[in-house]
Amino acid sequence: MNLKNDLILRAAKGQQVERTPVWMMRQAGRILPEYREVRQKAGGFKTMIETPELAAEVTIQPVDILGVDAAIIFSDILVIPEAMGLTYQMIESRGPWFEKRIETEKDIQNLRIAEAGDLQYVMDAIRLTKKELGGRVPLIGFAGAPWTILSYMIEGHGSKTFSKAKKFLYTKPQLAHQLLEKITTSTIRYLQGQVMAGADLLQLFDSWAGILSPEQYSEFALPYISKICDSFNSKEKTGDQVPVIVFAKGAFFAREEMGKLNCDVIGLDWNMDVKESRALIGRQKTLQGNMDPCLLYSDFKTIQRETEKMLKAFGPGKHIANLGHGLYPDIEKDNVKCFVETVKSYRFS
Ligand code: CP3
Repeated sequence: MNLKNDLILRAAKGQQVERTPVWMMRQAGRILPEYREVRQKAGGFKTMIETPELAAEVTIQPVDILGVDAAIIFSDILVIPEAMGLTYQMIESRGPWFEKRIETEKDIQNLRIAEAGDLQYVMDAIRLTKKELGGRVPLIGFAGAPWTILSYMIEGHGSKTFSKAKKFLYTKPQLAHQLLEKITTSTIRYLQGQVMAGADLLQLFDSWAGILSPEQYSEFALPYISKICDSFNSKEKTGDQVPVIVFAKGAFFAREEMGKLNCDVIGLDWNMDVKESRALIGRQKTLQGNMDPCLLYSDFKTIQRETEKMLKAFGPGKHIANLGHGLYPDIEKDNVKCFVETVKSYRFS
Protein backbone atom coordinates (compact mmCIF):
# COMPACT_ATOMS: atom_id res chain seq x y z
CA MET A 1 0.00 0.00 0.00
CA ASN A 2 1.25 3.46 -0.87
CA LEU A 3 1.89 5.77 2.07
CA LYS A 4 0.33 9.23 1.93
CA ASN A 5 2.82 10.53 4.49
CA ASP A 6 6.26 8.91 4.35
CA LEU A 7 8.19 11.78 5.98
CA ILE A 8 9.54 9.64 8.80
CA LEU A 9 10.80 6.97 6.37
CA ARG A 10 12.56 9.55 4.24
CA ALA A 11 14.04 11.26 7.30
CA ALA A 12 15.23 7.89 8.64
CA LYS A 13 17.01 7.15 5.37
CA GLY A 14 18.57 10.62 5.30
CA GLN A 15 16.55 11.72 2.26
CA GLN A 16 15.11 15.17 1.60
CA VAL A 17 12.05 16.19 3.66
CA GLU A 18 9.77 19.25 3.48
CA ARG A 19 9.69 19.44 7.28
CA THR A 20 10.82 17.47 10.33
CA PRO A 21 8.54 14.50 11.12
CA VAL A 22 7.31 13.94 14.69
CA TRP A 23 6.04 11.10 16.87
CA MET A 24 6.37 10.41 20.61
CA MET A 25 7.26 7.43 22.72
CA ARG A 26 4.18 6.38 24.74
CA GLN A 27 1.94 8.45 22.47
CA ALA A 28 -0.69 5.71 22.81
CA GLY A 29 -1.51 5.64 26.47
CA ARG A 30 -2.92 7.24 29.54
CA ILE A 31 -2.52 10.87 28.39
CA LEU A 32 -5.52 10.23 26.13
CA PRO A 33 -8.99 10.00 27.73
CA GLU A 34 -9.95 7.93 24.68
CA TYR A 35 -7.26 5.36 25.65
CA ARG A 36 -8.40 5.27 29.27
CA GLU A 37 -11.93 4.55 28.08
CA VAL A 38 -10.85 1.56 25.97
CA ARG A 39 -8.68 0.31 28.84
CA GLN A 40 -11.57 0.58 31.28
CA LYS A 41 -13.82 -1.46 28.96
CA ALA A 42 -11.12 -4.05 28.28
CA GLY A 43 -10.48 -4.45 32.00
CA GLY A 44 -6.69 -4.56 31.71
CA PHE A 45 -3.55 -3.77 29.77
CA LYS A 46 -2.84 -7.34 28.65
CA THR A 47 -6.33 -7.82 27.25
CA MET A 48 -5.74 -4.69 25.17
CA ILE A 49 -2.46 -5.83 23.67
CA GLU A 50 -3.73 -9.38 23.11
CA THR A 51 -6.93 -8.29 21.32
CA PRO A 52 -5.94 -7.06 17.83
CA GLU A 53 -9.08 -4.89 17.43
CA LEU A 54 -8.35 -3.03 20.69
CA ALA A 55 -4.61 -2.79 20.02
CA ALA A 56 -5.32 -1.36 16.55
CA GLU A 57 -7.82 1.12 17.96
CA VAL A 58 -5.44 2.61 20.52
CA THR A 59 -2.51 2.52 18.09
CA ILE A 60 -4.44 4.79 15.72
CA GLN A 61 -5.79 7.16 18.40
CA PRO A 62 -2.69 9.40 18.51
CA VAL A 63 -2.70 9.67 14.70
CA ASP A 64 -6.30 10.95 14.77
CA ILE A 65 -6.09 13.00 17.96
CA LEU A 66 -2.52 14.31 18.08
CA GLY A 67 -1.68 14.36 14.36
CA VAL A 68 1.65 12.52 14.66
CA ASP A 69 3.57 11.39 11.56
CA ALA A 70 3.82 7.72 12.62
CA ALA A 71 1.91 5.15 14.64
CA ILE A 72 3.66 2.69 16.96
CA ILE A 73 2.01 -0.69 17.45
CA PHE A 74 0.38 -0.94 20.85
CA SER A 75 2.17 -3.76 22.63
CA ASP A 76 4.96 -4.14 25.18
CA ILE A 77 8.60 -5.17 25.22
CA LEU A 78 7.69 -7.85 27.80
CA VAL A 79 5.85 -10.04 25.30
CA ILE A 80 9.26 -11.56 24.41
CA PRO A 81 10.07 -12.92 27.91
CA GLU A 82 6.51 -14.25 27.97
CA ALA A 83 6.89 -15.98 24.59
CA MET A 84 10.13 -17.52 25.90
CA GLY A 85 8.35 -18.98 28.91
CA LEU A 86 8.08 -16.31 31.61
CA THR A 87 4.55 -15.01 31.98
CA TYR A 88 4.01 -11.56 33.47
CA GLN A 89 1.19 -9.53 34.91
CA MET A 90 0.82 -5.77 34.54
CA ILE A 91 -0.20 -4.58 37.98
CA GLU A 92 -2.06 -1.26 38.14
CA SER A 93 0.21 1.56 39.37
CA ARG A 94 3.04 -0.92 40.15
CA GLY A 95 4.09 -2.09 36.72
CA PRO A 96 5.18 -5.49 35.42
CA TRP A 97 5.45 -8.57 37.65
CA PHE A 98 6.91 -11.98 36.67
CA GLU A 99 5.99 -15.09 38.70
CA LYS A 100 9.23 -16.88 37.77
CA ARG A 101 12.63 -15.23 37.42
CA ILE A 102 15.89 -16.43 35.87
CA GLU A 103 18.43 -17.52 38.48
CA THR A 104 20.27 -20.63 37.31
CA GLU A 105 21.69 -22.24 34.15
CA LYS A 106 18.75 -24.67 34.22
CA ASP A 107 16.31 -21.73 34.12
CA ILE A 108 18.03 -20.45 30.98
CA GLN A 109 17.99 -23.91 29.37
CA ASN A 110 14.28 -24.16 30.07
CA LEU A 111 13.55 -20.98 28.09
CA ARG A 112 12.23 -21.43 24.58
CA ILE A 113 13.55 -19.51 21.61
CA ALA A 114 10.49 -17.56 20.52
CA GLU A 115 9.12 -17.66 16.98
CA ALA A 116 7.07 -14.87 15.44
CA GLY A 117 4.11 -17.29 15.48
CA ASP A 118 4.24 -17.41 19.28
CA LEU A 119 3.17 -13.78 19.19
CA GLN A 120 0.44 -14.17 16.61
CA TYR A 121 -1.71 -11.56 18.36
CA VAL A 122 0.96 -8.89 17.71
CA MET A 123 1.18 -9.93 14.04
CA ASP A 124 -2.61 -9.79 13.75
CA ALA A 125 -2.68 -6.38 15.44
CA ILE A 126 -0.08 -5.07 12.97
CA ARG A 127 -2.01 -6.41 9.95
CA LEU A 128 -5.26 -4.92 11.20
CA THR A 129 -3.67 -1.58 12.10
CA LYS A 130 -2.06 -1.30 8.66
CA LYS A 131 -5.44 -1.96 7.07
CA GLU A 132 -7.22 0.59 9.24
CA LEU A 133 -4.50 3.21 8.79
CA GLY A 134 -5.04 2.95 5.04
CA GLY A 135 -1.56 4.37 4.33
CA ARG A 136 -2.10 7.59 6.31
CA VAL A 137 1.22 7.25 8.17
CA PRO A 138 3.86 4.51 8.58
CA LEU A 139 3.63 1.97 11.41
CA ILE A 140 6.56 1.43 13.77
CA GLY A 141 7.22 -2.08 15.11
CA PHE A 142 9.42 -2.51 18.17
CA ALA A 143 11.14 -4.75 20.70
CA GLY A 144 13.23 -4.34 23.82
CA ALA A 145 17.00 -4.54 23.37
CA PRO A 146 18.48 -7.77 24.81
CA TRP A 147 20.09 -6.17 27.90
CA THR A 148 16.81 -4.48 28.94
CA ILE A 149 14.89 -7.74 28.43
CA LEU A 150 17.50 -9.70 30.44
CA SER A 151 17.19 -7.18 33.26
CA TYR A 152 13.43 -7.83 33.60
CA MET A 153 13.99 -11.60 33.38
CA ILE A 154 16.49 -11.49 36.26
CA GLU A 155 14.73 -8.92 38.47
CA GLY A 156 11.20 -10.18 37.85
CA HIS A 157 9.85 -6.61 38.04
CA GLY A 158 10.97 -3.01 37.67
CA SER A 159 13.74 -1.65 39.88
CA LYS A 160 15.52 1.63 40.60
CA THR A 161 18.98 0.09 40.50
CA PHE A 162 18.56 -3.19 38.58
CA SER A 163 21.24 -4.43 40.96
CA LYS A 164 20.22 -8.11 40.69
CA ALA A 165 20.64 -7.93 36.93
CA LYS A 166 23.99 -6.12 37.23
CA LYS A 167 25.13 -8.64 39.85
CA PHE A 168 24.31 -11.41 37.36
CA LEU A 169 26.59 -9.78 34.77
CA TYR A 170 29.46 -9.50 37.28
CA THR A 171 29.08 -12.94 38.88
CA LYS A 172 27.78 -15.12 36.01
CA PRO A 173 29.01 -13.49 32.81
CA GLN A 174 28.93 -16.72 30.79
CA LEU A 175 25.33 -17.41 31.74
CA ALA A 176 24.47 -13.81 30.92
CA HIS A 177 25.88 -14.29 27.41
CA GLN A 178 23.91 -17.54 27.00
CA LEU A 179 20.73 -15.76 27.98
CA LEU A 180 21.47 -12.71 25.80
CA GLU A 181 22.01 -15.03 22.79
CA LYS A 182 18.63 -16.66 23.30
CA ILE A 183 16.89 -13.31 23.69
CA THR A 184 18.65 -11.96 20.58
CA THR A 185 17.58 -14.89 18.38
CA SER A 186 14.00 -14.60 19.65
CA THR A 187 13.99 -10.84 19.05
CA ILE A 188 15.27 -11.15 15.47
CA ARG A 189 12.54 -13.69 14.64
CA TYR A 190 9.92 -11.55 16.33
CA LEU A 191 10.95 -8.36 14.51
CA GLN A 192 11.15 -10.20 11.18
CA GLY A 193 7.57 -11.33 11.81
CA GLN A 194 6.56 -7.73 12.47
CA VAL A 195 8.07 -6.65 9.15
CA MET A 196 6.29 -9.50 7.32
CA ALA A 197 3.04 -8.36 8.95
CA GLY A 198 3.57 -4.81 7.69
CA ALA A 199 5.76 -2.78 10.10
CA ASP A 200 7.40 0.04 8.10
CA LEU A 201 10.25 0.74 10.51
CA LEU A 202 11.54 -0.74 13.75
CA GLN A 203 12.69 0.66 17.07
CA LEU A 204 14.81 -1.13 19.66
CA PHE A 205 14.28 0.19 23.20
CA ASP A 206 17.27 -0.18 25.53
CA SER A 207 15.55 1.54 28.43
CA TRP A 208 18.09 0.53 31.08
CA ALA A 209 21.25 1.15 29.06
CA GLY A 210 22.24 3.99 31.38
CA ILE A 211 22.74 1.85 34.46
CA LEU A 212 25.61 -0.13 32.94
CA SER A 213 29.23 0.98 32.95
CA PRO A 214 30.72 1.73 29.52
CA GLU A 215 32.71 -1.54 29.70
CA GLN A 216 29.63 -3.59 30.56
CA TYR A 217 27.64 -1.86 27.84
CA SER A 218 30.31 -2.78 25.26
CA GLU A 219 30.38 -6.38 26.43
CA PHE A 220 26.75 -7.19 27.26
CA ALA A 221 24.61 -4.80 25.24
CA LEU A 222 26.13 -3.45 22.03
CA PRO A 223 27.19 -6.78 20.41
CA TYR A 224 23.60 -8.06 20.64
CA ILE A 225 22.06 -4.82 19.37
CA SER A 226 24.60 -4.97 16.56
CA LYS A 227 23.53 -8.52 15.67
CA ILE A 228 19.89 -7.45 15.47
CA CYS A 229 20.76 -4.43 13.29
CA ASP A 230 22.87 -6.61 10.97
CA SER A 231 19.99 -9.00 10.43
CA PHE A 232 17.90 -6.12 9.01
CA ASN A 233 20.61 -4.30 7.11
CA SER A 234 22.86 -6.99 5.72
CA LYS A 235 25.09 -5.74 2.93
CA GLU A 236 23.91 -8.45 0.50
CA LYS A 237 20.22 -7.56 0.79
CA THR A 238 18.80 -5.32 -1.88
CA GLY A 239 15.52 -3.55 -2.38
CA ASP A 240 13.49 -1.93 0.33
CA GLN A 241 15.05 -2.18 3.75
CA VAL A 242 13.13 -1.36 6.87
CA PRO A 243 14.89 1.44 8.77
CA VAL A 244 15.98 0.59 12.31
CA ILE A 245 16.02 3.08 15.20
CA VAL A 246 18.17 2.31 18.26
CA PHE A 247 17.18 4.17 21.43
CA ALA A 248 19.48 3.48 24.37
CA LYS A 249 18.32 5.63 27.28
CA GLY A 250 21.24 7.03 29.26
CA ALA A 251 23.96 5.55 27.05
CA PHE A 252 25.73 8.89 26.51
CA PHE A 253 29.06 7.05 26.94
CA ALA A 254 28.33 4.74 23.98
CA ARG A 255 27.39 7.32 21.36
CA GLU A 256 30.60 6.95 19.36
CA GLU A 257 30.22 3.16 19.22
CA MET A 258 26.53 3.49 18.36
CA GLY A 259 27.51 5.59 15.38
CA LYS A 260 29.10 2.42 13.96
CA LEU A 261 25.95 0.28 14.28
CA ASN A 262 24.32 -0.97 11.11
CA CYS A 263 21.17 1.06 11.80
CA ASP A 264 19.64 4.20 10.32
CA VAL A 265 18.60 6.24 13.35
CA ILE A 266 19.97 6.81 16.86
CA GLY A 267 17.56 8.06 19.52
CA LEU A 268 18.86 10.64 21.99
CA ASP A 269 17.54 11.32 25.48
CA TRP A 270 17.33 14.85 26.91
CA ASN A 271 20.66 14.57 28.74
CA MET A 272 22.53 14.28 25.47
CA ASP A 273 23.65 17.53 23.90
CA VAL A 274 22.63 17.63 20.23
CA LYS A 275 25.84 19.10 18.76
CA GLU A 276 28.07 16.86 20.87
CA SER A 277 25.97 13.81 19.87
CA ARG A 278 26.22 14.69 16.19
CA ALA A 279 30.00 15.01 16.50
CA LEU A 280 30.32 11.65 18.29
CA ILE A 281 27.84 9.72 16.14
CA GLY A 282 28.98 11.21 12.82
CA ARG A 283 27.13 12.70 9.83
CA GLN A 284 25.71 9.48 8.41
CA LYS A 285 22.90 8.69 10.82
CA THR A 286 19.56 10.35 11.39
CA LEU A 287 19.04 11.43 15.01
CA GLN A 288 15.77 11.16 16.93
CA GLY A 289 14.63 13.06 20.00
CA ASN A 290 15.17 14.61 22.38
CA MET A 291 12.85 16.99 24.25
CA ASP A 292 12.54 16.50 27.99
CA PRO A 293 8.96 15.19 28.41
CA CYS A 294 8.65 17.43 31.50
CA LEU A 295 8.78 20.50 29.24
CA LEU A 296 5.21 19.54 28.35
CA TYR A 297 4.09 20.44 31.87
CA SER A 298 4.76 24.11 31.06
CA ASP A 299 2.67 26.62 29.07
CA PHE A 300 2.17 26.81 25.28
CA LYS A 301 4.59 29.72 24.83
CA THR A 302 7.41 27.91 26.60
CA ILE A 303 6.66 24.67 24.74
CA GLN A 304 6.77 26.50 21.39
CA ARG A 305 9.99 28.34 22.21
CA GLU A 306 11.85 25.27 23.49
CA THR A 307 10.59 23.04 20.65
CA GLU A 308 11.85 25.53 18.05
CA LYS A 309 15.15 25.72 19.89
CA MET A 310 15.40 21.91 19.69
CA LEU A 311 14.58 21.87 15.96
CA LYS A 312 17.27 24.48 15.27
CA ALA A 313 19.83 22.52 17.29
CA PHE A 314 19.25 19.42 15.12
CA GLY A 315 19.01 21.45 11.91
CA PRO A 316 17.20 20.56 8.67
CA GLY A 317 17.12 16.89 7.57
CA LYS A 318 18.34 13.74 9.30
CA HIS A 319 16.13 14.45 12.32
CA ILE A 320 12.96 12.83 13.66
CA ALA A 321 11.41 14.96 16.41
CA ASN A 322 10.47 13.05 19.55
CA LEU A 323 10.84 13.26 23.30
CA GLY A 324 13.91 12.04 25.16
CA HIS A 325 11.76 9.28 26.72
CA GLY A 326 8.07 8.40 26.95
CA LEU A 327 5.22 10.77 27.81
CA TYR A 328 4.15 10.72 31.46
CA PRO A 329 0.49 9.84 32.03
CA ASP A 330 -0.37 13.16 33.74
CA ILE A 331 0.81 15.41 30.88
CA GLU A 332 -2.04 17.51 29.39
CA LYS A 333 -3.17 16.35 25.98
CA ASP A 334 -3.34 19.95 24.67
CA ASN A 335 0.28 20.55 25.64
CA VAL A 336 1.28 17.40 23.74
CA LYS A 337 -0.65 18.73 20.73
CA CYS A 338 1.20 22.04 21.05
CA PHE A 339 4.55 20.18 20.80
CA VAL A 340 3.38 18.24 17.72
CA GLU A 341 1.93 21.31 16.01
CA THR A 342 5.02 23.41 16.68
CA VAL A 343 7.18 20.79 14.94
CA LYS A 344 4.75 20.45 12.05
CA SER A 345 4.50 24.17 11.35
CA TYR A 346 8.23 24.92 11.63
CA ARG A 347 10.17 25.46 8.39
CA PHE A 348 13.89 26.01 7.88
CA SER A 349 14.19 28.87 5.44
O1 CP3 B 1 2.73 4.39 22.54
C1 CP3 B 1 3.69 3.61 22.61
O2 CP3 B 1 4.85 3.99 22.90
C2 CP3 B 1 3.47 2.16 22.23
C3 CP3 B 1 3.29 1.23 23.26
C4 CP3 B 1 4.36 0.85 24.26
C5 CP3 B 1 4.04 0.45 25.56
N1 CP3 B 1 5.17 -0.01 26.16
C6 CP3 B 1 2.70 0.48 26.14
C7 CP3 B 1 2.55 0.51 27.60
C8 CP3 B 1 5.74 0.71 24.11
C9 CP3 B 1 6.63 1.06 22.92
C10 CP3 B 1 6.24 0.15 25.33
C11 CP3 B 1 7.65 -0.23 25.56
C12 CP3 B 1 8.09 -0.53 26.93
N2 CP3 B 1 7.46 -1.28 27.87
C13 CP3 B 1 9.34 -0.15 27.46
C14 CP3 B 1 10.40 0.61 26.68
C15 CP3 B 1 10.11 2.05 26.64
C16 CP3 B 1 10.42 2.79 27.89
O3 CP3 B 1 9.47 3.37 28.45
O4 CP3 B 1 11.59 2.81 28.31
C17 CP3 B 1 9.43 -0.64 28.76
C18 CP3 B 1 10.60 -0.47 29.73
C19 CP3 B 1 8.24 -1.37 29.02
C20 CP3 B 1 7.88 -2.09 30.26
C21 CP3 B 1 6.69 -1.54 30.92
N3 CP3 B 1 5.42 -1.55 30.39
C22 CP3 B 1 6.61 -0.91 32.19
C23 CP3 B 1 7.79 -0.68 33.12
C24 CP3 B 1 5.28 -0.54 32.39
C25 CP3 B 1 4.67 0.08 33.63
C26 CP3 B 1 4.97 1.51 33.73
C27 CP3 B 1 3.76 2.34 33.39
O5 CP3 B 1 3.91 3.32 32.67
O6 CP3 B 1 2.68 2.03 33.93
C28 CP3 B 1 4.56 -0.91 31.23
C29 CP3 B 1 3.12 -0.71 31.00
C30 CP3 B 1 2.70 -0.02 29.75
N4 CP3 B 1 3.18 -0.29 28.51
C31 CP3 B 1 1.71 0.99 29.66
C32 CP3 B 1 1.60 1.33 28.30
C33 CP3 B 1 0.66 2.31 27.66
C34 CP3 B 1 0.87 1.51 30.80
C35 CP3 B 1 -0.24 0.54 30.98
C36 CP3 B 1 -1.50 1.15 31.46
O7 CP3 B 1 -1.64 1.23 32.68
O8 CP3 B 1 -2.36 1.51 30.63
